[in-house]
Amino acid sequence: MSLTQIGTELVKLLPPEAAHKATIRALKTGLGVPLRAPAHNPALAVTLPKSGLKLASPVGLAAGFDKNCDVPGAMARFGFGFVECGTVTPRPQAGNPQPRLFRLTEDRAVINRMGFNNYGLDYFVRRLKAYRGDVPIGANVGANKDSSDRIADYVTGLEAVAPHADYVTINISSPNTPGLRGLQDKASLEALLNTCGKADRDGKPVFLKVAPDLDAEAIEDIVGVVRGPGKWLAGLIVSNTTLARPESLKSDHKGETGGLSGAPLMAPSTEVLAAFARELAGEFDLIGAGGIASGADAYAKIRAGAQAVQLYSALVFEGPGLVRRIHDELLHCLHTDGFGYVADAVGAGLQA
Ligand SMILES: Cc1cc2nc3c(=O)[nH]c(=O)nc-3n(C[C@H](O)[C@H](O)[C@H](O)COP(=O)(O)O)c2cc1C
Repeated sequence: MSLTQIGTELVKLLPPEAAHKATIRALKTGLGVPLRAPAHNPALAVTLPKSGLKLASPVGLAAGFDKNCDVPGAMARFGFGFVECGTVTPRPQAGNPQPRLFRLTEDRAVINRMGFNNYGLDYFVRRLKAYRGDVPIGANVGANKDSSDRIADYVTGLEAVAPHADYVTINISSPNTPGLRGLQDKASLEALLNTCGKADRDGKPVFLKVAPDLDAEAIEDIVGVVRGPGKWLAGLIVSNTTLARPESLKSDHKGETGGLSGAPLMAPSTEVLAAFARELAGEFDLIGAGGIASGADAYAKIRAGAQAVQLYSALVFEGPGLVRRIHDELLHCLHTDGFGYVADAVGAGLQA
């Protein structure tokens, strides 16, 4: 067992939030972190057409693991092709009372109701500026819970992080800030994207992160707004956590309030991704997230139209060695289906 594997097993003995804190602290000291990022197989390299983002691997770290941009370099050295930090809000906020993070071990899932706990933009931007590395970094911005003007919060965040990030994500899909998902409604989304479209983005690509809990009509509305007031966007990230509680859940924690992520989110989030891809493929970049725990899962998102993917929850159970396994399995999937490069497989499952 490597030092990292031992650390992963020990950390699982702690309550989830303490485990997360201990992990970030260890990563900050460099404990168990590889000295440099691995060289990836060229077949994994992908360039996202609209944003122009060049990734040595399509497998990224999803937002929420490194909310304050403390350890992007360490996560890049575990092999992620890109790392998204945040969500950061303009002012620091404590988030919801603890406990607010639950492992559903039998279900390979997590429920969280963190509520955007973070140190605020000043701290985040200082950390972002200190990052020295080749792996692209995304900065995910949100609104303070007590804000009187949430759209203004997004503009503040966007303008502060854009000069120092490779891309920015506008997160309107956390279920843990009351009313936030209301920004996905047609009129609110139009107002948000009209205003953010006038913000100074420093030429950086901007993604919109959506929820998986969208019916056909809601998807149609978002597609319409993205093509109109949102045409300046680089693309979408599909998806955040779900409010749904599938019948299949076994864990004692299944009744906790919050967003569910991990294995039970894989199929529904991939369906929503495919629905967006059927409409927007070729016009906007698509990043798939939700339930990825293997190379086959990452490959399924790519076949459903994602040019790149992100994960978080599976790391809780598998540790950072997972990233390398996913790369090996993904290469195997590509080879088996006769694809030379990731880009060749993007959307391949949509015609079927
Ligand atoms: C503990 C936790 C905190 C999260 N915090 C954020 C966040 O701050 N911003 C965000 O956009 N997504 C956040 N997410 C959602 C993830 O980025 C991701 O979209 C979702 O968990 C689905 O991927 P997964 O099943 O691989 O975890 C969080 C997820 C978890 C588990």
